[in-house]
Amino acid sequence: APVHKDLRHDSAHKHVSGEADYIDDMVVPEGTLHMAAGLSDRAHADILSLDLSEVEKTPGVVLVMTHKDIPGHNDIGPNHRGDEPLLAEKRIEFHGQMVFVVVAETREIARAAARMAKFTYHDLPHATDILDARKLGYKMVTEPLTLSRGDAVSALKKAPLRIKGEMRVGGQEHFYLESHIALAIPGEDDEITVWSSTQHPSEIQHMVASILQIPVHAVTVNTRRMGGGFGGKETQGSQFAALAAMAAKRLNRAIKFRPDRDEDMTMTGKRHDFLVDYEAGFDDEGHILAVKANYAARAGFSSDLSGPVTDRALFHADNAYYYPDVLLTSEPIKTNTVSNTAFRGFGGPQGLVGGERIIEEIAYALRLDPLEIRKRNFYAIEGDERCLTPYHQKVEDNIIHRIVSELEESSDYQARRKAIIAFNKTSRVIRKGIALTPVKFGISFTFTPFNQAGALVHIYQDGSIHLNHGGTEMGQGLYTKVAQVLADEFQVDIERVKITATTTTKVPNTSATAASSGSDLNGMAAYDAARQLKERLYAFAAERWGVPVAEIAFLPNRVRVGDEEIPFPHFIKQAYMARVHLSAAGFYKTPKIHWDRARGTGRPFLYYAYGASVSEVSIDTLTGEYQIERTDILHDVGRSLNPAIDKGQVEGAFVQGAGWLTTEELWWDDKGRLRTHAPSTYKIPLASDRPRIFNVKLAEWSVNKELTIGRSKAVGEPPFMLGVSVLEALSMAVASVADYKVCPKLDAPATPERVLMAVERLQAT
Ligand code: MTE
Ligand code: MOS
Repeated sequence: APVHKDLRHDSAHKHVSGEADYIDDMVVPEGTLHMAAGLSDRAHADILSLDLSEVEKTPGVVLVMTHKDIPGHNDIGPNHRGDEPLLAEKRIEFHGQMVFVVVAETREIARAAARMAKFTYHDLPHATDILDARKLGYKMVTEPLTLSRGDAVSALKKAPLRIKGEMRVGGQEHFYLESHIALAIPGEDDEITVWSSTQHPSEIQHMVASILQIPVHAVTVNTRRMGGGFGGKETQGSQFAALAAMAAKRLNRAIKFRPDRDEDMTMTGKRHDFLVDYEAGFDDEGHILAVKANYAARAGFSSDLSGPVTDRALFHADNAYYYPDVLLTSEPIKTNTVSNTAFRGFGGPQGLVGGERIIEEIAYALRLDPLEIRKRNFYAIEGDERCLTPYHQKVEDNIIHRIVSELEESSDYQARRKAIIAFNKTSRVIRKGIALTPVKFGISFTFTPFNQAGALVHIYQDGSIHLNHGGTEMGQGLYTKVAQVLADEFQVDIERVKITATTTTKVPNTSATAASSGSDLNGMAAYDAARQLKERLYAFAAERWGVPVAEIAFLPNRVRVGDEEIPFPHFIKQAYMARVHLSAAGFYKTPKIHWDRARGTGRPFLYYAYGASVSEVSIDTLTGEYQIERTDILHDVGRSLNPAIDKGQVEGAFVQGAGWLTTEELWWDDKGRLRTHAPSTYKIPLASDRPRIFNVKLAEWSVNKELTIGRSKAVGEPPFMLGVSVLEALSMAVASVADYKVCPKLDAPATPERVLMAVERLQAT
């Protein structure tokens, strides 16, 4: 059976040979025109005048559009709060905000013309940072969240020992290889088709309809694949799609809108950076008694997904640890920067990093190995008391103890830690560090309605199967996994299943492919469609051959009916001749979950995914440069639908997580301009930055307690947080210069500069 097998990604060969079609590779209609964006060069200002005459006069320019050309509401915020204009009107809220667009014969002409605009502004004071925003009295972009249990304030007072601190956790650019892009093709009457590089075709469809003031049924959105999304294409594609669609309808020509890398990095939202203020009370054995923390996030100029992202940060502030009394608050504060958005983990990683800092501080205060503090504070495996999260969901599937102890064994953690401490005693310049950090990540959308999915399955007369579902493919292997589910149900070879582009016309009202829930949701929806088809085929075969249903079975590429074995294509042909309905729409909604945000209680997650990693690093104390020497990972994906793909997800997520916490730094200048908007200044991990020794294992014994597809677990985001072991290992290496007496309190990203500064700070103590 194809499921639970190491099948390769359906497009793996095409990705590397260049044969995989991305939108920019598509054959375009005759007369396609190109769009480019006109951007503001102020962080906060009112436009006094805008002179576009030079833009319009440029040879080859066909159309210039401003907000005045928008037929519908000038708002593409996913919350419909009216806080995110498609094109800025008078007020500019960040450096690089789109003010107008140019349509021209070629992309080069459009881009050159877009720079010919003449603006005059009235400048306003701006705030790019959280602290500046507080000073200017900026409001939150959306309602903050409070999670509380017990009485953290008085428990803190009573606690025998206390730590208190502040941590900066940096943001992150998605750096998908394919930038945002939209290709809009006008149709008859009000119809329009948009090819969009998006994780959320239905939302693009709604935005295009609302901008054009046409019914949703007139808009078709197609997405075959993205060259990476990582959360950056959950909401951020709307602007490109809506503007391309507007021009396409206006000119009755196809329009392609593809920003270049610098523009994409300037104009689109990133991971939120956070400022975490924390306090914890504990006893002399390191048991946490109380935690109080505020998570402030740079939201950018509009709400976008900042509400749910900061919520998820709070949901993961506990990571795998039980906090007896706890008070957590979020502060999604407005800033004059691009509106920040989803990024792998969706705020969870920032929440978790804050929680791990608390563990680290307690460990240094007591001069114990942080791993020891971790183990003493893990949620209990069962019982009623030490299983309750700050949002009052009971942890019922806790396997973190086993994951951590197996990894501790297999990585030889204890002996290596001893050896590293010995090494550091005598090594003058190079210092080493090692850390083992756990991950517990909640699976389900916290916006309950998103936890639904549909699939459409056709079986054609030759026995070939056509599969479509609401999920999108961004490299994570979702299409392959769902095809495996279907092939497994019919017991046919995977080649018999045709995976087709996601389109709003086949499965309506889809959710974003996000929150790692793609295979949980769409796998189940496809399974449901297959079950319906099989019911019909069983009934047909029972009648046609006169045998009881119990004697009918789907075997590899054939169907057994009584004593007869019929090849699958012949069986299907007979079903067609007997007028069996060979198409089915499947549906799934996640059971058990509920969430009352106002009260901060409920069961937002169906289950948790777990994992742990051990990283060993070495740092050069003269330069701050470092290297990951070795990483060992044990990660839980339940019963893997496809271990090869899941391992790829774990490896990629770890490297991306480590990059976030080490070399990837976003930097705005005093004018509020993002200066790290190209690979020359923004450093994602290179192949040479991966751990020199990299041992990745899936916890093969794990089975999802919940009835998920094949008892698997989501894999997309949880392993991202395995990168935290690198940050902590760096911290230990730094701490060695002061004999581990002080917690280095390394902020993220721990760039070589920051490591060097921490070394010098500690050497001075
Ligand atoms: N893997 C690849 N190769 N490319 C991506 O863009 N996105 C990640 C993760 N893995 C991503 C990826 C994010 S942010 C999520 S939420 C999940 O994949 C989404 O897909 P899934 O729900 O099917 O796991
Ligand atoms: Mo992933 S951040 O949920 O797209």
